[in-house]
Amino acid sequence: MNHVLTRAALAAALTIAASGAHADDKLKVGFMLPYSGTFAALGNAIENGFKLYVAEQGGKLGGREIEYFKVDDESNPAKAAENANRLIKRDQVDVLIGTVHSGVAMALAKAAKDADTTLIVTNAGANAITGPLCGPGIFRTSFTNWQPAYAMGPVAYAKGHKTAVTITWKYAAGDEAIGGFKEGFEKAGGKVVRELSLPFPNVEFQSLLTEIAALKPDMVFTFFAGGGAVKFVQDYHAAGLDKTIPLYGSGFLTDGTLQAQGASAQGLLTTLHYADGLNTPRDNAFRADYSKAYKMQPDVYAVQGYDAAQLMQSGLTAVKGDFSKKEAFRSAMRTATVDSPRGSFTLSKAGNPVQDIYLRRVDGLENKVVEVAVQKLADPARGCKL
Ligand code: PHB
Repeated sequence: MNHVLTRAALAAALTIAASGAHADDKLKVGFMLPYSGTFAALGNAIENGFKLYVAEQGGKLGGREIEYFKVDDESNPAKAAENANRLIKRDQVDVLIGTVHSGVAMALAKAAKDADTTLIVTNAGANAITGPLCGPGIFRTSFTNWQPAYAMGPVAYAKGHKTAVTITWKYAAGDEAIGGFKEGFEKAGGKVVRELSLPFPNVEFQSLLTEIAALKPDMVFTFFAGGGAVKFVQDYHAAGLDKTIPLYGSGFLTDGTLQAQGASAQGLLTTLHYADGLNTPRDNAFRADYSKAYKMQPDVYAVQGYDAAQLMQSGLTAVKGDFSKKEAFRSAMRTATVDSPRGSFTLSKAGNPVQDIYLRRVDGLENKVVEVAVQKLADPARGCKL
């Protein structure tokens, strides 16, 4: 086995040398992620997932060693441009990996485009990134905020719900998730009767829960994630609302959060591009490797990070490790099929995954797959000129 690996490494090195690049040039990868605040666990899971795939490839991508650079973006849009430029200008990274928060990611995408640095977005769903801000060097291995939320619309209507109240943080991800749900729900025949919100990342939900109780809609749809999602689900349950007004959400509501949410989350239905219990050989292998490496189960964020490394591997393989061939590297990534633990996916022209959205039900510590809610759902990529 070692013998085979050594020969493969030698062949890769020779190919790189023949292409004119320096065989010992390391590939510089910059992680711009939240390592503190309400989304800290999400940032860590993305980094873990990325590094797991690299470890599975013997510590390299496209035959290249990797040098990592890291910035904690704190999910703070006000510092986003400066943080992005630390990685782009100071560290001169070849590829940017990030981030979680949509507002931060939009600034990151602008900075990446200005510098013509390749960016792979590993969570943030801001529709604009693969809409008006799309570009040849901009990729996403996660989702648009529209995607999972839209998928819940027809599912909820089919359960007999005619009216809905929505509640979220007032920022791009919240607004767009609500927009997606509303589009799907109203197209199916339902009506969103009130849209409630509070500033990100506030968790003082009490007065809004009182308003929901008074409005008595058939259902509530929500977007919250990370620490905020934990608190929202606990508060909704503690107020007794789950007994009379069923709660639905984009699957971030219950992903990576179940340990903390415990009993309050049981039975919740959400839609997302990943689920527990898929029971495919690909997902089972990924989960076994992840839990062995990190002593915990992976979540959707880990998958998105893992797939960013897989996508890079496709691009780097096509250029035989010579990442100075930027155009060829990028076009190979754009046309790749990613063998994801979620199920394999391709990218739209705009660079966003075209993927199945699962309906999941919380059962113990798992978001168990119920069914595929919408197959191969592509974001409409409104405003992308590619
Ligand atoms: C976002 O800001 O786009 C966002 C943040 C956390 C999530 C999902 C989306 O879990």
